[in-house]
Amino acid sequence: MTRPASDPPIAYRAVITGHGSFAPPKTITNDDLARMVDTSDEWITTRTGIKTRHISSDSETTAQLATEAARRALDEASLDPADVEMIIVATITPEMVFPSTACFVQSALRATNAFVFDIGAACSGFVYSLYIAQQFIETGRLTNALIIGAETLTKITNWTDRTSCILFGDGAGAVVLERSTDPDRGILYSTLGADGDSWQALNCQAYGSRHPADRLLDDPKKIYMEIQGRQVYQQAVRRIVDAVNDCLRHCGMTIDDLDMFISHQMNARIIESAMKRLELPPEKVFINITEYGNTSAASVPIAFDECMRSGRVKRGDTVLFVAFGAGLTWGANVVRL
Ligand SMILES: CC(C)(COP(=O)(O)OP(=O)(O)OC[C@H]1O[C@@H](n2cnc3c(N)ncnc32)[C@H](O)[C@@H]1OP(=O)(O)O)[C@@H](O)C(=O)NCCC(=O)NCCS
Repeated sequence: MTRPASDPPIAYRAVITGHGSFAPPKTITNDDLARMVDTSDEWITTRTGIKTRHISSDSETTAQLATEAARRALDEASLDPADVEMIIVATITPEMVFPSTACFVQSALRATNAFVFDIGAACSGFVYSLYIAQQFIETGRLTNALIIGAETLTKITNWTDRTSCILFGDGAGAVVLERSTDPDRGILYSTLGADGDSWQALNCQAYGSRHPADRLLDDPKKIYMEIQGRQVYQQAVRRIVDAVNDCLRHCGMTIDDLDMFISHQMNARIIESAMKRLELPPEKVFINITEYGNTSAASVPIAFDECMRSGRVKRGDTVLFVAFGAGLTWGANVVRL
């Protein structure tokens, strides 16, 4: 790969050495939802590609899902939790307002030597976290990092709003990054962006400083996620295509150099529109939204774990992660496995 002259020299690469995912066993189907709101399996399937989504029980929390996915990734990497140096949890459905969900994960794993924090970049959170960890590892500050995307979105879902309740599900995915001196492996490039002017397109206003807890119930809807689906849809396709083109341009690659396109699973039609504009062949596009729905920050690492476990991608392949979500935020990473 040719790096532009403007890039600083890189001593180390951040290589993915482990991956794992976990979703609550209970699922809810489109027919189940059709008994709750005015919708149908046919409408949901044709408009979104979603058939089921995993749903956490009252006792299943974001940190628990995150910890299970992390254990699987650490096992795969043969990395002792005590040797983990940094944990980032990307989530918009944290364990509580504070402390961070990452603190609960650190405690559960006994990763006592790690510093830990959460990232709130919504559906782009995992892609944002990879870029952050990439900096620590490429500069030689850290030898490893545990990156997790975990969500229990069904706990902030308005089950009476048919425009949003059909979309979301729960789950967690994780990767272990380790420092390598191999210049041809690891995260080759990352790009991120945001548009805070469009925050209203997707939000959940509860518990923030604009709506102190003692006044929250003045507007009960603010407890739940609110989305302007059509506005998000249009922006998502454009931002995904732009992020992918930025990656290809920067890395001196074409679509032919990519082995798999692993997008945030927000709507199969959004992914297919982006795929058409990028002229990506279907065999290079991974879609598992049918089973999971939109799991926000967990979506890309769950999809990646499934790709690896099914053999769709393997060591030496080049994959592209891309995500778009609330903020609005977006981003992409090019990774050679
Ligand atoms: C939400 C989404 C599936 C809606 O699909 P769409 O094709 O844009 O549909 P529209 O919102 O234009 O609605 C079309 C009609 O279907 C209706 N409708 C909406 N939800 C429905 C449902 N669950 N079942 C049946 N009808 C529904 C609307 O009321 C509207 O009816 P009208 O024409 O009589 O007004 C789609 O816009 C989407 O996926 N957007 C992005 C989602 C998102 O924000 N994800 C999170 C961030 S990544």
